[in-house]
Amino acid sequence: MTMRLDKLLTHLGVASRSGVRDILKAGRVRVNGAAVKDAAFQVNENADIALDGQRLDTRLSRHIMLHKPAGVLTAKEDHRQKTVMDLLPPLYTALGCMPVGRLDKDTTGLLILTTDGELAHRLISPERHVDKVYEALVEGTLTEADVQTFAAGIPLKDFTALPAKLEILAPGLGLVTVREGKFHQVRRMFGAVGKPVLELRRLSFGPLPLDEALAPGEYRELTETEIAALYAAAGMKA
Ligand code: URA
Repeated sequence: MTMRLDKLLTHLGVASRSGVRDILKAGRVRVNGAAVKDAAFQVNENADIALDGQRLDTRLSRHIMLHKPAGVLTAKEDHRQKTVMDLLPPLYTALGCMPVGRLDKDTTGLLILTTDGELAHRLISPERHVDKVYEALVEGTLTEADVQTFAAGIPLKDFTALPAKLEILAPGLGLVTVREGKFHQVRRMFGAVGKPVLELRRLSFGPLPLDEALAPGEYRELTETEIAALYAAAGMKA
């Protein structure tokens, strides 16, 4: 796909559209070794583009894993509260990165973000049944009866949750695997068995586990292998 040089540089977060024009006029940008001042010059993301002699990373598609900390909203923007996008360099917002699904404000753990809207859409589509694993610290003691209730599918106010796997790690600590991602779903499921969730952390999303090297608030780009696994989980080609 080709696009205007000024558009690509703006997408890459180099500067605003008018700032980019000034940078181009000043002859600070080289494309495949030659200075280019024409904002409408057509490039693709494989071009070798350098600003002030530094080669730019021109990949437009990016896929990230973020260790979401508590207290931030999963949203692209919010006027009052801090969002997950505020934890990332502005480049990712400029490229149109979006969260794949949602974690509640107080939920921590693995959040995937991608520039590919179709990938995001398919990964959260209820038909795809991508497994999500959460660790839940709950009030009270989890029992074998809770395991059975989760496995049977819990009727909630507006829908019945699909059968989910609950493993008891400690009296008040459970590992739950769900295939859907309805609003407050895991909290509501534990609430339904009378064990309100105190802390919730997502440990994996489809084929990807949370990278334990990431502290809360830290992120990294996915590897090629991880990207391929994610596309496969979405039934798409990378
Ligand atoms: N289920 C919830 O209740 N909250 C989350 O953040 C994710 C799943």
